[in-house]
This record gives sequence, structure tokens and C-alpha cells, in this order.
Amino acid sequence: MISFSGKRGVVLGVANQRSIASGVAKQLHQLGAELALTYAPDPKGRFEQNVRKLAESCGNAMVLPMDVREDAAIEKGFAEMEAKWGALDFVLHSVAYADRGDLEKPFSSTSRDGWRMAQEVSAYSILPLAHHAAPLMRKAGGGSLVGMTFIGSVLAVPNYNVMGPAKAALESAVRYLARELGPDNIRCNTISAGALRTLSSSGIRNFGEMLKVAGEHAALERNVTIEEVAKATVFLLSDAASGITGQSIYVDCGFNIMAN
Ligand SMILES: NC(=O)c1ccc[n+]([C@@H]2O[C@H](COP(=O)([O-])OP(=O)(O)OC[C@H]3O[C@@H](n4cnc5c(N)ncnc54)[C@H](O)[C@@H]3O)[C@@H](O)[C@H]2O)c1
Repeated sequence: MISFSGKRGVVLGVANQRSIASGVAKQLHQLGAELALTYAPDPKGRFEQNVRKLAESCGNAMVLPMDVREDAAIEKGFAEMEAKWGALDFVLHSVAYADRGDLEKPFSSTSRDGWRMAQEVSAYSILPLAHHAAPLMRKAGGGSLVGMTFIGSVLAVPNYNVMGPAKAALESAVRYLARELGPDNIRCNTISAGALRTLSSSGIRNFGEMLKVAGEHAALERNVTIEEVAKATVFLLSDAASGITGQSIYVDCGFNIMAN
């Protein structure tokens, strides 16, 4: 049985109810975890509002502003967690961004700034998170860090474009983090989720078609659900996965194994 009783961790990437991170946070709370939820500040404060609502239903979780492009925001967020908890057991990185314009262009026309932005937010950001989490996880005797990826990292998926190399970088970065932090019993993995309708995926042209193809061609002949992705993520974040590190685990109803 998986239990998070006495465990403390931070979930990045709640934008709204449909976010994968929301599904994970709900399950972690049900299993007894104490949570901090972060939001990316936006001019209208929509994300903050949504995160505060979720935090209330997750045992009044801590709410922290954290734009992952800003080192100061990351540092401050981890300082607040350290002040409250002293130690940390898990981190979920469920964050990605690419400029819609860059997603719509032919891949070879991706702008330098668009490439940089996608890489910075979607891949690089896991490094400073690991850097700040590691000392707190050492105090807990170890920990687990999970990132969210997509099969577009290894296959040329129509319209995924600039996000493909960003996800490839994320997966590779997680392997290097697993190697660096393994001696401290800190595990680092990614979940490769099947296509799901969320705010992020709405920026991908013809996403409806991608979803349809994924459902038709998956071994289970259907699309995965947020709850299923969340269950597997919770497993990787938990002690039940104590022997697993440096992996990317597909939770896509078997889409990735099919030859057509
Ligand atoms: N939806 C899918 O089909 C799918 C499939 C596989 C992997 N993923 C990945 O899952 C993760 C979560 O995406 P989602 O589908 O739940 O969509 P989502 O839009 O709900 O979540 C993306 C999150 O990234 C956050 N974000 C963007 N820029 C940020 C910044 N600068 N600082 C901090 N946060 C920032 C957004 O605020 C949002 O909360 C992403 O890494 C995404 O690439 C999604």
C-alpha cells in the first residue's frame, strides 16, 4: 500500500482543474501527503486563484508563486518550505511552455528565442529545482523527483515541433540528475504521458487529431486519463518505487509499443 503519511513535497504545474499536476496533487493529498503547490504568476492572477482553490481542498496546502525562469522565486519558495518543514520528500515538475507561434511554424523556422524559451521553461528548470531540493531531501534520508514528458522526445510527432527537443533534454537531464543524486538516495524519473486535453496541449495545432490517433493506435485502444497518469506519478514519487531511478515510464495505454 502506498502511503504519504508524514511526507512533504511540492507540486509545480497546476494551471487549472484539468492540469496533470492537479490530478497528482489530489491523489497525494488523499494518501496523506503535506503539500506545497506553486503557480506561475500571470497578469490576471488566474493561475493563483485556481491553485488557491485546489490548495484549500488539499488540507490547506502551502501556495507559492514560482516562475521557473526566475532563480530568486525558486530560492524563496524552497526557503519557505525549509522554514515550515525542515526537510522535503518529493518534487513534481509538471511544467512546460512553448510559444504558440513557434509551435505552428515549420520546425526548421523555430526562432532562437522560441527554442531558448521552450528549453529554459520545460527542461532547464528541473536543474535549479533539484539543486534546491537536494539538501532538504538529504535531511529526509532521500527523496523523489518526477518530471512530465511526452513521446515527442523520441518520435517526430506532427506539430509538436520545438517541444520535442525540449522533452528530449528533460529526459536526458533527469538521467544526469539520477546519477548525481543517487548516492544520496534521491531518485529522478520522468513519466511519459499519453496525449491529454489540457491548457498546454490546446496550443498544439490539430491536437484533436493527435488524441484520436493515440486512442485508435494504443494497445489498449483508448486514450489514457489524467487519473491514470497521476496514479503512476504518485507511484514514482512514493517509496514503492524505491528501486527505480533514471527512467522514463510510459503511461499511454501502450501507444509507444505499437508499430502502427
Ligand atoms: N497534455 C498532454 O497531452 C501531455 C502529455 C505528455 C506530457 N505532458 C506534460 O505534462 C506537463 C503538464 O502539462 P499539462 O498538460 O498538465 O498542461 P497545463 O497547461 O495544465 O500545465 C502546464 C503548466 O506549466 C506551467 N508553466 C508554464 N510556464 C511556466 C513558468 N515559466 N514557470 C512556472 N510554471 C510554468 C503552467 O502555469 C501550467 O501550470 C507538461 O510538462 C507537459 O508538457 C502533457
